[in-house]
Amino acid sequence: MAHFSRRQALIAGGAFGALVAAAPAQARSLVGWNWSPGDSVAGTGAGLDPHEVWDAAADPLLKSLLDRGAVPGVNDLLWDWETNEQPLPDGLPSDLRDFMEDARRLPSWADHDKLELAAEFNKSHGIYLNLANGPGGGMLAAAIPQEARAVYYSNGGADMESRVAKTSIFGFSVGSLDAFRPEGTCVVECLKTRLVHAAVRHLLPQSEHWRESADEDIPINQEDMLVTWHTLPTFAMRSMEDWEVPVTDDEAEAYLHVWQVTAAMIGISEEYIPATWQAAYEQSDEIMARNMGPTDEGIWIADTLLSQLSNRFHEATRPMVNSLARFLIGDETADWIEIPREERWDDLVPRAWSSLVQFRNGVIGLPAVPQLAWTIDELLRQYVLHDLTGGEETKIEIPTSNRPD
Ligand code: HEM
Repeated sequence: MAHFSRRQALIAGGAFGALVAAAPAQARSLVGWNWSPGDSVAGTGAGLDPHEVWDAAADPLLKSLLDRGAVPGVNDLLWDWETNEQPLPDGLPSDLRDFMEDARRLPSWADHDKLELAAEFNKSHGIYLNLANGPGGGMLAAAIPQEARAVYYSNGGADMESRVAKTSIFGFSVGSLDAFRPEGTCVVECLKTRLVHAAVRHLLPQSEHWRESADEDIPINQEDMLVTWHTLPTFAMRSMEDWEVPVTDDEAEAYLHVWQVTAAMIGISEEYIPATWQAAYEQSDEIMARNMGPTDEGIWIADTLLSQLSNRFHEATRPMVNSLARFLIGDETADWIEIPREERWDDLVPRAWSSLVQFRNGVIGLPAVPQLAWTIDELLRQYVLHDLTGGEETKIEIPTSNRPD
């Protein structure tokens, strides 16, 4: 493969080792921002530190809508706004309508052919992407202090079932065959997410609990969004390299592209969106280590998510799910969020997963695949069935308050 090689990934310490361990944790003020906008999809930019940039178009709008008490009415109107080319509903406030008409347009560099190939890739590599982006991404988010605190103290933190369902709606829309086609839903879910984040930037600073625990004044800056973005496509790509899953150069490029478009649609500025995998890995190496670590909120979130996952699946025990999570994110991160070590499973799960991948790649035959591998396979199937497609009655809505006390 033309991009970051498997050998390089292993040298850097495996999928997640490569995400966090490439740079030693340092005080942010000492290291600043060195990634060049020349490596972005924009190819140029002011080079502003993304830690000091939020969403200049959406943030004042959501502040105003919240101050005017307009958000419940907006949520009602947007409830049935579901597909990419569906006209916006009548009755939206004119400032919001103007913003949304502009923000719903795909970036000029969006490439139809790459998006189509990405959709096929999402289908053929679904099991790997679902594992990495679902349980993997969820665990990593718990190990990002800014995100863990934002999630915990925002309205959705009180109801993690609903939060997972809403996040899954988003994940499903990105991974579906018609993601950015007219009948797809990705534009809608991205734009709703952008509105939610802008509302959170206004609401969370009003939470006494968040202010006491957070070490920032306004949440969800551009660097935070990039960090989360790397826990999704970058982590998935590095995991697939680590697991020796075959990915062609065209597939890798197409998969990056669908996430570049997604990043732009949720409000990440184009000068920060990596143009290539090489640029993505370099940016990830610059920002991941300094944005990860343990928090009480993250420990609670991880425990809640792992309980949910194991409860979905009758035969699976929580210990096996713990081991799967530890295997995905590595020991250091697993220890931060206090995933228990499981003597019985911690060696078996990685081996079972490896044999499942090899079987799917035609490297080994059926008799060589242990029963545990099929249990993991079934766990993932149940996860997709319940978490990725089961949220039909839930929709992403703009919050009007923080977590109730
Ligand atoms: C809400 C995705 C980055 C904090 C959401 C929702 C989605 C989403 C789909 C709607 C689901 C819901 O309302 O529960 C993403 C993606 C990101 C990203 C794709 C980056 C690629 C971040 C970051 C933070 C954050 C960096 C915090 C540092 C939140 C919070 C909510 C939210 C607090 C609202 C929860 C509530 O309703 O109370 N995000 N997010 N997100 N996100 Fe993000």
